[in-house]
Amino acid sequence: AVAPRALIAGNWKMNMDRVSSEVLASALAQNVGSVAVDLAVCPPSVYLSPVSVVLGSSGVALGGQDCHTAQNGAHTGDVSPEMLADLGCTYVIVGHSERRADHGEDDAAVRAKAEAARRAGLIPIVCVGETEAERDAGKALDVVESQVRGSVPEGLTGATLVVAYEPVWAIGTGRTPTADDVAAVHAHIRKVLGDLCGDAANVRLLYGGSVKPGNAKELMSVANVNGALVGGASLKAEDFLGIAKATP
Ligand code: G3P
Repeated sequence: AVAPRALIAGNWKMNMDRVSSEVLASALAQNVGSVAVDLAVCPPSVYLSPVSVVLGSSGVALGGQDCHTAQNGAHTGDVSPEMLADLGCTYVIVGHSERRADHGEDDAAVRAKAEAARRAGLIPIVCVGETEAERDAGKALDVVESQVRGSVPEGLTGATLVVAYEPVWAIGTGRTPTADDVAAVHAHIRKVLGDLCGDAANVRLLYGGSVKPGNAKELMSVANVNGALVGGASLKAEDFLGIAKATP
């Protein structure tokens, strides 16, 4: 099978302000033509609108960092997937480990969000990944498999699903798994998705966790890695574009 075109997605988390969001988005919009991969940015929800204006029709896609399961209603402080779609989002991250930890989201909650995202026409970026203790105990593949089975709705395809493998211990730490470890997890995710979704060959599997321009070439060349979900290094255009340029 031909590998799907790579996606480099920036998860800005709870960073940036309005002006710096616009400046960063503008730099990406101007340079997207110099990279051979798909680019997406996921700003804080309050900055989606100004960023969307700056991105315009540049081809840099927009995504949310989370969504509620309902379309609207009495859910103070929440944002629905329909609202994200209304602002021009293509993607929404669901089940990031920080949401799982900070907001107690379990696999069933993540799966409900991914289903709601599909209802609104968004592509969910479903995040999974083991903790350091789980890896040390030799359980990384089992943990990731159970998260994938619990968090990914059945029957999605490459056009409707992205999965991101983010080992919790590699997020924001400067530490990364070896290429062999990433290869083992991604091959396993592809296999499990095959069970859940039928043909999973075209589902993009992103690696996330301390991706930088300096390690992107090695990590992005691993079999079954179809891009990156980038945190810290997505906040500077030069670093983000450097990762994109290093991606085959
Ligand atoms: O979602 C991306 C993220 O968790 C990785 O963060 O800062 O290690 O690239 P970072």
